[in-house]
Amino acid sequence: MRIVLVGPPGAGKGTQAAYLAKNLAIPHISTGDLFRANISQGTPLGVEAKSYMDAGNLVPDSVTIGMAEDRMEQADAAEGFLLDGFPRNLGQAEALDEYLKNSGLKLDAVLDLEVPEEEVVKRIAGRRICRNDSSHVFHAEYNKPKAEGVCDVCGGELYQRDDDREATVRKRLEVYHTETEPIIDYYKDQDLVVTIPALGKVEEVTKRAMDALQRGE
Ligand code: AP5
Ligand code: ZN
Repeated sequence: MRIVLVGPPGAGKGTQAAYLAKNLAIPHISTGDLFRANISQGTPLGVEAKSYMDAGNLVPDSVTIGMAEDRMEQADAAEGFLLDGFPRNLGQAEALDEYLKNSGLKLDAVLDLEVPEEEVVKRIAGRRICRNDSSHVFHAEYNKPKAEGVCDVCGGELYQRDDDREATVRKRLEVYHTETEPIIDYYKDQDLVVTIPALGKVEEVTKRAMDALQRGE
């Protein structure tokens, strides 16, 4: 299956992607995680991406599209993937369509995680991620690690993301509304969008998403 996950910052895309990718046995491809891995390794791509991310802006398409396509290539797109955080504007959505068309492939579904804004703000404020791997995600209140400040998955140190400061979060939400929301209509026109109410426990949201995919909505 080839699936795109969309939703505002803090909606739970990364959290859900980890479970959905495991259940569906497909790779989880997160452009945010790829950028953060490049930043922690100090690569030129990481250096370029960091200034945009810290300001809450999108990293330019000229950098992002090539990186996402390389990762899909590496994962063997024909076997399926779960995209988290890509595409994030119309240019990226069109580039993805072109890439899939050239490979003779199609998307199966676009899952739109729906969460009220006041909830995403709370989710982001309490988020803690792992120094070793930013896909290991916890919450100080809602999704506590077994030992405070320590990653359950790998034992790494948990910390707060630089772009999770309040002013940056506000900017990320604004960018979501202006640049990312239009792709939902773009995919509605292709009859691919399934809206998943994403309030409630993590496992309840996963079940809603799995049920929707199994019904072939
Ligand atoms: P990215 O890393 O993609 O961030 P985002 O889209 O802002 O999404 P988040 O990671 O903030 O949230 P999430 O929805 O994954 O929520 P999570 O599961 O962590 O992008 C960061 C930056 O990179 C961008 O601003 C941009 O600069 C750049 N970038 C990335 N992709 C790009 C692209 N394609 N083009 C250009 N630039 C790009 O959950 C949040 C918290 O809530 C966690 O603490 C979690 O434990 C908790 N939680 C999750 N589910 C629940 C639940 N059901 N109940 C209670 N708490 C929950
Ligand atoms: Zn970890």
